[in-house]
Amino acid sequence: RPHETINVQGASFVRDSKTNVPASIISKLPQRLYMKPEHPLGILRTLIEGHFPNFTTANSLSPIVSVFKNFDELGFPHDHPGRNITDSYYINSTTMLRTHTSAHEIEVFRQGADKWLLTADVYRRDEIDASHYPVFHQVEGARTFDVSEDMDALAEENARLAEKLASANIIIEDDTQVTPQNPYQNVHDPAHAALVTENLKSSLNSLILSIFGARANATKEEPLRVRWIEAYFPFTSPSYEVEVFFQGKWLEILGCGVVKQATLDQSGIENRIGWAFGLGLERIAMVLFSIPDIRLFWSEDPRFLEQFTPGKITAFRSYSRFPPCYKDVSFWTSDQVKFHENDLCDVVRDTAGDLVEDVKLIDEFVNPKTQRKSLCYRINYRSMDRCAQQRPSSYPYRGPPEPDLLLYSYRSLS
Ligand code: PHE
Repeated sequence: RPHETINVQGASFVRDSKTNVPASIISKLPQRLYMKPEHPLGILRTLIEGHFPNFTTANSLSPIVSVFKNFDELGFPHDHPGRNITDSYYINSTTMLRTHTSAHEIEVFRQGADKWLLTADVYRRDEIDASHYPVFHQVEGARTFDVSEDMDALAEENARLAEKLASANIIIEDDTQVTPQNPYQNVHDPAHAALVTENLKSSLNSLILSIFGARANATKEEPLRVRWIEAYFPFTSPSYEVEVFFQGKWLEILGCGVVKQATLDQSGIENRIGWAFGLGLERIAMVLFSIPDIRLFWSEDPRFLEQFTPGKITAFRSYSRFPPCYKDVSFWTSDQVKFHENDLCDVVRDTAGDLVEDVKLIDEFVNPKTQRKSLCYRINYRSMDRCAQQRPSSYPYRGPPEPDLLLYSYRSLS
């Protein structure tokens, strides 16, 4: 009985009360944008891999993982908000689409590499706007050291890295401290934990320097500003987030920390201590390539794809900015079924695909007699690559549309 099972990438899963993956999401699984050498996400992945030349890479791990692997094994508590069906995509109660690349940490550590990177597509239910998309990409990186053999070499390497950063055009703002809220782990010698933390920080500062320095028109005089902030992740301690100051704004780009020893123990490398980070590719690619809308990464329009060259960071040139066109939708909510905005957003995406730029709650009303509540949402349509009504008949694109066709499209929008 087909409706009792759900087919994902050729495998069949039994549906249950947690199943919530829509077809529009399933269709993203085979795309693997991060592996396309001429795609901004592929270019950025290659740049990062090039910065860590001795790291092994894993780029073909399936996005379908057990809930255990995504959450439990990494120490996520049972009531962690990330587990909610409003926040994550479940194939069923035991299987889901990974929400982060950390889901693979233990299996990659188990394979024995002491320095590795893994890039993958990750899935989170979210609102709809220019910088959020339910599929995005992360690079996870980690490095471990033998506690009894590698510590002296690590101290020397840290000194070398510090010297290099001191002479680079970068300002590192770091007021973080090791506190009881963000401690070294009890099982670690504090001197070892300090060396690993220092190595984590300088390795990532130099990564950021080479990513942002790679921008073709990077201003040489302006120093790059990087800020370290204390953070919390269930599988690292101490933990940090890193922000980069870019075009007047602080941009959060990664989470990281010293890997919880329980994670390394489970991976069969009890004698080692190490760090890990997880970095989001889209945010960085949007600023590096001046890409104004996250939906563009999924565009198949040659006017998007043909702008980029493998190995190069170049500014994106907009080829179409058509006027938005909104429709308001209002509906009653029910007392029995709790409404969550992400449910609406999945319906919108499943129906309208990437034509929708954002979805916003614009009005709420409670009927004073019945106490029933109604919500009004504004669905803002704007295609990234075509007019609202018609494609130029010459598609695939061979030049601008005829003027009267453009005029027609604009007029029919207003
Ligand atoms: N997985 C974390 C996230 O997605 C990032 C992270 C990776 C944090 C590795 C610490 C270590 O937010």
